[in-house]
Amino acid sequence: MTADLHELEQRASAELAQVSDLQALEQWRLRYLGKKGEVTLAVRSVGQLPPAERPAYGKLANEVKGRLEAAYEARLEVLKQEEVERALRAAAVDVTLPGRRPAVGRLHPSTQTLREIYHIFTQMGFQIYRSREVETDEYNFELLNMPPHHPARDMWDTFYINKDVVMRTHTSPGQIHVMRAYYPEPIRAILPGKCYRYEQVTVRSEHMFHQVEGLAVGKHITMADLKGTMIHFARQMFGPERKLRFRCSHFPFTEPSVEVDMDCILCGGKGCSLCKHTGWLEIAGAGMVHPVVLRNGGYDPNEWSGFAFGMGIERIAMLKNHIEDIRYFFSNDLRFLGQFH
Ligand code: DAH
Repeated sequence: MTADLHELEQRASAELAQVSDLQALEQWRLRYLGKKGEVTLAVRSVGQLPPAERPAYGKLANEVKGRLEAAYEARLEVLKQEEVERALRAAAVDVTLPGRRPAVGRLHPSTQTLREIYHIFTQMGFQIYRSREVETDEYNFELLNMPPHHPARDMWDTFYINKDVVMRTHTSPGQIHVMRAYYPEPIRAILPGKCYRYEQVTVRSEHMFHQVEGLAVGKHITMADLKGTMIHFARQMFGPERKLRFRCSHFPFTEPSVEVDMDCILCGGKGCSLCKHTGWLEIAGAGMVHPVVLRNGGYDPNEWSGFAFGMGIERIAMLKNHIEDIRYFFSNDLRFLGQFH
């Protein structure tokens, strides 16, 4: 009978040595040391033996039970320790790994273009002046020489806030603000900002876009100053070879008025799809500030003169970066926006 106990101890010990996690250890415990475990049952079976065999068997059974319990406790400690170490390893940070790069935001292409334009004009001594996006009808139209019902107002499809207040359709009303703020100083300013038009959204037109207005007011300002300024700008922005052409036009707030064209940056003037086979790209409207506008700004047109221009920033950015559809600018597609570094 005691041979059975030795065999049982050996088997239990061998199995215990194979146990490699806490779950398997618990199964082992139930199998041998649990209420119905083999060792427990062996100890209890002493009573059924012939009295003569009881002492020796009982002693050995208790010894086996004690040794297996001790071995179980020791194994439990080892496995618990291993578990802790595994958890620590899993949570460990390898400080030698390269860091993770955070996603980097970029400036919007309109902002980047605006900043390039600021750079070029501030080097020529222009200051940057900001004026409001919500304007009165008076500033957006009347003071710019467009009385109510003037047909030129049709050039701008307007968002009205109410009958007297509009979302500005161009940056030109800023001319009046800056003149009224600086009279009687001479002025060299650019006025950047958002403009709004109630337009059909197409490849070429958006509800909201940016313009930069330019205004110079002084005692001896001539059309030659306007030409020189525009040529310098175009060559800084689009390359030193650029040629400009000043084509007669009409704006109510300038006299004379011109459209400023630049030789096509794609074909150099030969004619291509970008310039619609004309060889020229329109980049701005401009002219000499109309006497009525000077007077509305507080400057006597008999003493003062000035030039002004206005250009669309998305248009400039489209030409510069070969972008074919203005709607990309404000549709917030990162595949588009991420291309401008
Ligand atoms: N305000 C005009 C527009 O939005 C652009 C413009 C033309 C501005 C001629 C000017 C200018 O200052 O002189 O269409």
